[in-house]
Amino acid sequence: MLEIRKAASEDEEKIFKLIRELADAVGFAEQAPLIDIGIWSATLKKMLSSPDWVFLLALEDGEAAGLVLFFVRPTLTTGMNRATITEMVVTEKARGKGVGRVLVEEAKKHALQMGCSILAVSTELDNAGATGFYRKMGFTQERTYYEAQL
Ligand SMILES: CC(C)(COP(=O)(O)OP(=O)(O)OC[C@H]1O[C@@H](n2cnc3c(N)ncnc32)[C@H](O)[C@@H]1OP(=O)(O)O)[C@@H](O)C(=O)NCCC(=O)NCCS
Repeated sequence: MLEIRKAASEDEEKIFKLIRELADAVGFAEQAPLIDIGIWSATLKKMLSSPDWVFLLALEDGEAAGLVLFFVRPTLTTGMNRATITEMVVTEKARGKGVGRVLVEEAKKHALQMGCSILAVSTELDNAGATGFYRKMGFTQERTYYEAQL
């Protein structure tokens, strides 16, 4: 049975496994050995205890099947909040069974309850799978995203 619930600090191992799976899926796995587990764990605790971050975990018969996390920030122009998904993954085993859809629907519900009028996400240009999925979920491309290395 599929269960969606907010993650807590006890879920650190499950979250780590899912983020590793995301890194494998999007080709960032080569960066994984560079991760300092102490920094990773401290940052995760900080995010989990922040009211601005939401981690939603999908469990299939108690086993981690997927994760979506997003943060919420106010917008000056409308006064409404805006939610941004920063990570989203469904395990290879659980893909194609509607888990991703349920996670996005739950994320939308939580974001609405937190006063958001927009749920945004950005993904790598070459991630055709994610692009197809987000379009299916009702997302439309509104912006181009830039970043600078500091
Ligand atoms: C993208 C991802 C989260 C989708 O999760 P999922 O559980 O497999 O998706 P679902 O089964 O809920 O699919 C929901 C809908 O999206 C569609 N969809 C899913 N993957 C798709 C793809 N690769 N291309 C096009 N459409 C896709 C499904 O057909 C389904 O539509 P339908 O209900 O009309 O049939 C999952 O494939 C994944 O984790 N990929 C690797 C990590 C990744 O790329 N994450 C996003 C980067 S931020």
